[in-house]
Amino acid sequence: MILSSLVAMNSERLIGVNNDLPWKLRDDLEHFKNYSMHKPIIMGRNTFESIGRPLPNRTNIIVSSKLENMENCYICKTLDEAIMLGEKFTNDEIILIGGSKIFAEGMPIVNKLVISWVSANQLKGDVYFPEFNINEWLEVSSENYDQSDHNEYSFTIKEYVRK
Ligand SMILES: NC(=O)c1ccc[n+]([C@@H]2O[C@H](COP(=O)([O-])OP(=O)(O)OC[C@H]3O[C@@H](n4cnc5c(N)ncnc54)[C@H](OP(=O)(O)O)[C@@H]3O)[C@@H](O)[C@H]2O)c1
Repeated sequence: MILSSLVAMNSERLIGVNNDLPWKLRDDLEHFKNYSMHKPIIMGRNTFESIGRPLPNRTNIIVSSKLENMENCYICKTLDEAIMLGEKFTNDEIILIGGSKIFAEGMPIVNKLVISWVSANQLKGDVYFPEFNINEWLEVSSENYDQSDHNEYSFTIKEYVRK
């Protein structure tokens, strides 16, 4: 089973500001959609509220101690419970999609990272991906996207597996 973290961050590991993304990158949103399609996705309550709705054609699992029932979503009280639930839906891949608490708690147990490295530094922000040692990860793919009308910054999507 693959357990991955799917994230867009800059070199300072910034991932969010004011419960939103710090950038507008249409091609990265498209990549997010394509990569996560038909897979179970696990997110924290803030990330769910930031997205504002369950994402279609994916098993949406929200980790929260506060939320009760939510249409078209599953609510779990812990990340472990969320992963066990995800395993009921697939033998292939479960994806952690954030935010910082989910990424931090998941970091010791994920075996794949899919990172969009955004070329934008010194931005305002308040949420960060956890520190990690890149030397523990083997880069297996890399794809560049240029800045354009629909991508505020250039970015590179890299996939890594744990060495
Ligand atoms: N750049 C990216 O790729 C990316 C991806 C995702 C999110 N983001 C950004 O990140 C920000 C949101 O992230 P965040 O760190 O503020 O919040 P978050 O991790 O999405 O949600 C935090 C909440 O989720 C619940 N939760 C998370 N982990 C838990 C655990 N292990 N056990 C129990 N409950 C847990 C708790 O909800 P309760 O309080 O209900 O218990 C907690 O208050 C936004 O700015 C968003 O745009 C960026």
